[in-house]
Amino acid sequence: MAPVVLGPKGTVTMKLAVPKERRPHEKRVAASPDTVKKLVGLGVDVCVETGAGDGARISDAAFEAAGATIAADAGACMKDADLIFKVQRPIMAGEDGPDELAMMKPGAALAAVLAPFNNREQADAFAKANITAFAMDWMPRITRAQSMDVLSSQSNMAGYKAVLDACEQFGRALPMMMTAAGTIAPARVFILGVGVAGLQAIATAKRLGAIVSATDVRPATKEQVESLGAEFIMVESEETKDAETAGGYAKEMSEDFKRRQAELVSEHIKKQDIVITTALIPGRPAPTLIDDAMIASMKAGSVIVDLAVEAGGNVTQSKLGEVVEVDGVTIVGHHNWPSRLAADTSALYAKNLLNFIQPHIDGESHELNIDWEDETITGTALTRDGAVVHPLLTGEGN
Ligand code: NAI
Repeated sequence: MAPVVLGPKGTVTMKLAVPKERRPHEKRVAASPDTVKKLVGLGVDVCVETGAGDGARISDAAFEAAGATIAADAGACMKDADLIFKVQRPIMAGEDGPDELAMMKPGAALAAVLAPFNNREQADAFAKANITAFAMDWMPRITRAQSMDVLSSQSNMAGYKAVLDACEQFGRALPMMMTAAGTIAPARVFILGVGVAGLQAIATAKRLGAIVSATDVRPATKEQVESLGAEFIMVESEETKDAETAGGYAKEMSEDFKRRQAELVSEHIKKQDIVITTALIPGRPAPTLIDDAMIASMKAGSVIVDLAVEAGGNVTQSKLGEVVEVDGVTIVGHHNWPSRLAADTSALYAKNLLNFIQPHIDGESHELNIDWEDETITGTALTRDGAVVHPLLTGEGN
């Protein structure tokens, strides 16, 4: 049995649980030996479920050496926990797999990627179970919260991996190669959507020696693309001046803009070897940017990677979880790109969680003492004291 850890005032310290992720296609884990060590140093009693780190190549022994206790199963790990760190939202009654929500203690706090717009019913379930749920994917995009921003840390790695996945399917090299046997022309790589993933995809393709171009609806991206040495192409339109929300995200564009963007992309795409799409609009299906005719116009042997496939896809022919070939073009639609680099993405995600919770651990009692005035709390909290509180869910936000 885990030793009861006492804080300086003789209080039982906060218990944190890190269960194994059980949703399909998820190899990540919400803690690393590094973050466990820091949390234990803050007086937190950390419990990790056995095997939780397997997919990320972190052994039970490594977690134990960092100061965690190892629980035999999810129930034992979570039953007394005041705080639960997860990657994916908990499995609930009616879904395949064990009811993880039922294993949590009423009054506990949960931090995970909750995709609240796509799973509106879960907030009511958290409220009913009296779980204070923090959606890490709703972290405000403010300077202070950059170190807590899970979308950034994970998208960055996804953008990198998308290029490597494209290379794997591409039967040619990316850089120009001048050899005694002849010269190989550099590959042309086109990135659609230049947020965090897109910028990293540009940087990665450039490092590999490709000729890179990119497009977005937010004019601010032009300078970012050009500073990475890539060519920026974009529809000239007054509408783009208003294409960015206060939070830095894209808005849905008009039908006229979409038509003009499709014309621009159609012309450009014919000459490309690799296309990587990353375009997302929060709370809406991903915009369709590459249609059947564009795919048919591409050179045989070209590769498209649709990083937005889980949000409905930017490419008409991409299939979630599959690599398909259409008109000689390979279209890659893997599940969960961040999970494909689980060792690194887990370490970064775990650090995001540590940075999020650390300011709310009381230095004296070592207990969770949430500052409900803090923007990183109000921006992410879906529920509190048995009620749904987030304005975007209660209808008070927009
Ligand atoms: P995202 O993942 O929501 O979308 C990816 C990209 O797709 C975005 O650049 C978006 O403008 C683009 N897009 C959407 N619809 C499109 C269309 N129809 N055609 C072409 N492109 C389209 O974006 P992400 O990566 O989350 O970044 C959003 C913004 O947030 C960026 O400005 C980024 O710099 C900013 N940011 C700020 C942070 C902070 O200050 N803490 C942290 C991370 C990102």
